[in-house]
Amino acid sequence: MAENRIFSGVQPTGNLHLGNYLGAVKRFVELQEKKAECIYCLVDLHAITNWQEPKDLTENTLEVTATFLACGLKEKTSIIFNQSQVKAHSELAWIFNCVARLGWMNRMTQFKEKAGKNREAASLGLYCYPALMAADILAYHATHVPVGEDQKQHLELTRDIALKFNNDFQAPDFFPVPEPIIEGTATRVMSLRDGTKKMSKSETSDMSRINLTDEIDLIAKKIQKAKTDAFEIPEKKEDLINRPEAENLLTIYASLANKSLDETLKIFCGSDFKKLKTELTDLLIDELKPLGQEIKKLLEDSAYLRKVLKEGSEKARVIADPILEETFDIIGMVK
Ligand code: TYM
Repeated sequence: MAENRIFSGVQPTGNLHLGNYLGAVKRFVELQEKKAECIYCLVDLHAITNWQEPKDLTENTLEVTATFLACGLKEKTSIIFNQSQVKAHSELAWIFNCVARLGWMNRMTQFKEKAGKNREAASLGLYCYPALMAADILAYHATHVPVGEDQKQHLELTRDIALKFNNDFQAPDFFPVPEPIIEGTATRVMSLRDGTKKMSKSETSDMSRINLTDEIDLIAKKIQKAKTDAFEIPEKKEDLINRPEAENLLTIYASLANKSLDETLKIFCGSDFKKLKTELTDLLIDELKPLGQEIKKLLEDSAYLRKVLKEGSEKARVIADPILEETFDIIGMVK
């Protein structure tokens, strides 16, 4: 088993937004730079738990690949691939469907949010989504999983599945119990229109999020129109309680400027939001303009992007296939 093996996944369901970037992809790059063994997956099987037009799924998979590379992930250093191309994910997911308990699944808040009121119409895949996520991680015996705050509960379920499997089959330590890495200042970036909701691809209003490929005028407009409140910026963090929109803009600023929230409050305390919005817009444009340009450039060479994924899945299979085989042996499957 590797000392430290990092695994994480992103759904190729559209443009990545600032939440994905600050909460996840920027962290992926930092871990890659720390020379950890990193495996980053475009989880296309998770994506289809909600309807995806086939053409859009293909385009989005290539776009997220381009985004990973533009953000600084390197195909020679990290393993970058799409989930459907490594069969161990779905096979192990089936095994974990038999390990996980209905009671565990019924507690998953993301299913409740995504299924909404009409739960009967949700796909069965959406319900067992967390077992596939556990399979993603455990198929590589990954030890650490960098994610945003919203994935914490799924990571806890992954840990429960690993422990139950090891215990049920008396295979101590076969699956490592992975640690979440929920780090950085912006582990939960909120909507620009409602500071109590997380920034998300599924939110209907595009004004609620900054997409990594937004043009600079649009970024400026979105920040300009971002919801704030009528009070001035306070001196202390405690005074941001019940001011979610203010806290969100300050947190985004802090994350982009590599400062703590306290340092950021020192800069802006006593002023209204105009100064913060102007400086935040500048920071966002500095960071996202070159990124957006690089994504567009990479998208012109889809053959290269497909090659990155193909080679990545070959490397991923070398790790995952023997672990799946060993899992079959432990369960008693005849070969
Ligand atoms: P997904 O595709 O929704 O999001 C990808 C990553 O971005 C983080 N994120 C955020 N971080 C901060 N603020 C936000 N507003 C925000 N929105 C999203 C997510 O936490 C995530 O890290 N189930 C996962 C994908 C997945 C996965 C895995 C992750 C599948 N298998 C195995 C880790 C390990 C998901 O839907 O992420």
